[in-house]
Amino acid sequence: MKNIYIVGFMGTGKTSTGKELAARLKRGFLDLDGIIEEKEKMPIAQIFGQKGESYFRKLEKDLIKDVSSKEDLVVSCGGGAVAEADNLASLKKSGVIICLKADADTILKRTKGNLLRPLLNVDNPRERINELLKNREPFYSQSDHFLDTTGLSIGQTVDKIIEIIK
Ligand code: S3P
Repeated sequence: MKNIYIVGFMGTGKTSTGKELAARLKRGFLDLDGIIEEKEKMPIAQIFGQKGESYFRKLEKDLIKDVSSKEDLVVSCGGGAVAEADNLASLKKSGVIICLKADADTILKRTKGNLLRPLLNVDNPRERINELLKNREPFYSQSDHFLDTTGLSIGQTVDKIIEIIK
């Protein structure tokens, strides 16, 4: 069976949702950021800081190519993974793309003070969130299914995804 890709903005719950969904569907689970951190032996924020965002994006792109040659997986992608035409095309070809959403207030609340997210580690994270959301909408909107996770627990989010893909 084709892969299930969980995409969407930072703080929408992709990793926790993907892990739980994989367990419920008895599929393998991959978290792209987690794999990159393991490979590089450092957290994403440090990769951005020491090697730069473009280095991270190259690793992300190579990994997506690799993962899209596999099957039967649930894959949680980093928030910027689909904001690149080649990546989006690879995911579309090899699986169904579920985009998790949340409003800017919820995203801000869930990511606030979290230094692990280098792109939001700025003076005005709300402005940054709105700017990134706007820039990425044309990419996220090409997903197959959308789910607003505002106010939902991980279990409820997974229930809804299972309904959607049935
Ligand atoms: C990013 C999101 C992060 C991580 C990196 C870049 C982005 O993943 O890949 O910090 O560009 O939105 P999460 O969405 O899991 O936080």
